[in-house]
Amino acid sequence: MTTTTPRVLVLGGTGWLGGEIARAALAAGAAVTCASRGSAPAPSGARHVRVDRDAPDAFREQAVAEALAGEWDEVVDVSSTPAHVSAAVTALGPRARHWTYVSTVSVYAANAQAGADESADLVEPSDHSDYSHAKVAAERACQEGLGDRLLIARPGLIVGPGDRGDRFGYWPARMARAAGRDGARRVLTPTIAGRAAQAIDVADLAAWITSAGAGGLTGAINAVGPETTYGHVLELAAAAAGANPEYVEVEDAWLLARSVNYWAGPRSLPLWLPEEFSAMMRRSDAAFRAAGGRTRPLAETIERVLADERARGLDRERRSGLTAVEEASLLAQV
Ligand SMILES: NC(=O)c1ccc[n+]([C@@H]2O[C@H](COP(=O)([O-])OP(=O)(O)OC[C@H]3O[C@@H](n4cnc5c(N)ncnc54)[C@H](OP(=O)(O)O)[C@@H]3O)[C@@H](O)[C@H]2O)c1
Repeated sequence: MTTTTPRVLVLGGTGWLGGEIARAALAAGAAVTCASRGSAPAPSGARHVRVDRDAPDAFREQAVAEALAGEWDEVVDVSSTPAHVSAAVTALGPRARHWTYVSTVSVYAANAQAGADESADLVEPSDHSDYSHAKVAAERACQEGLGDRLLIARPGLIVGPGDRGDRFGYWPARMARAAGRDGARRVLTPTIAGRAAQAIDVADLAAWITSAGAGGLTGAINAVGPETTYGHVLELAAAAAGANPEYVEVEDAWLLARSVNYWAGPRSLPLWLPEEFSAMMRRSDAAFRAAGGRTRPLAETIERVLADERARGLDRERRSGLTAVEEASLLAQV
């Protein structure tokens, strides 16, 4: 009996999730090619093809066309630029047995209904500079070009080591500071009761995308972890860090009046969402589970994130959250 090694192409396989997918596919025995501009190396064992998808006819350039020639068992694309996505589908789609487009739960038009599944209405894409609109347009380009060979994975909040957005890691890092220093025990948070949280470990997501691709799974599926609460995330983060925090809970209006931002980015309280987005982290995971999606316990993910935060430095400049100085100044006003 002869077996052939599956050929997997990850468009954007040198980034965070893309890199994890490339590593998962390598671990599953595939021959993996990663295509990107080359800002970072491809994972060890993967072949790298340099392509700038901003260039017109990027996939028709001779060197790129030759390097990406032949049939592909699986193509994974993480791009959020509809023109990049449709160009890839045109150039490579006819030679792909199966394709996975990594989309997002941000494609949904409303975020207020808990437990909504994949049949929920999508945003109508009119403005491609808007992330949600661009993702819907990219999904549609894939659907038109690939039909029933397409899996659309719609992840919710992706968390884990290596997250350059610094969003979820804020809380484990904050608790480590609360455990370690006098004065850092008072932790500013939005009101805790009634808030939801939902996260998927980047490694679990990559493992599922890899096995779903190998198995030829199709359709659109929310790739989300089980629903939990914001308070439970804080508890697990505190337990992982060995902290005994004193929560200083404040109302949304109090934070907004002091220019604290929702969700992510500078001067934010990560994972804090306005009421109208309250169910963004309460998406149905039923289809994901039925399609073989497995997630490790959140406590384990938080341990992984905390180890990564410690390795990267608890006092480093972050892309998301409050600085120690900002938080101290806000706490002084409570
Ligand atoms: N983070 C979350 O919580 C979350 C939630 C839901 C969905 N998602 C989705 O998950 C995916 C995240 O993927 P990721 O973490 O791998 O992203 P990433 O770390 O930003 O990586 C982007 C990849 O695309 C490549 N790239 C960017 N511009 C390019 C260009 N012009 N030409 C060729 N390659 C280009 C990059 O390499 P070069 O720069 O070297 O070109 C890199 O390999 C996205 O689809 C996102 O929408 C994320």
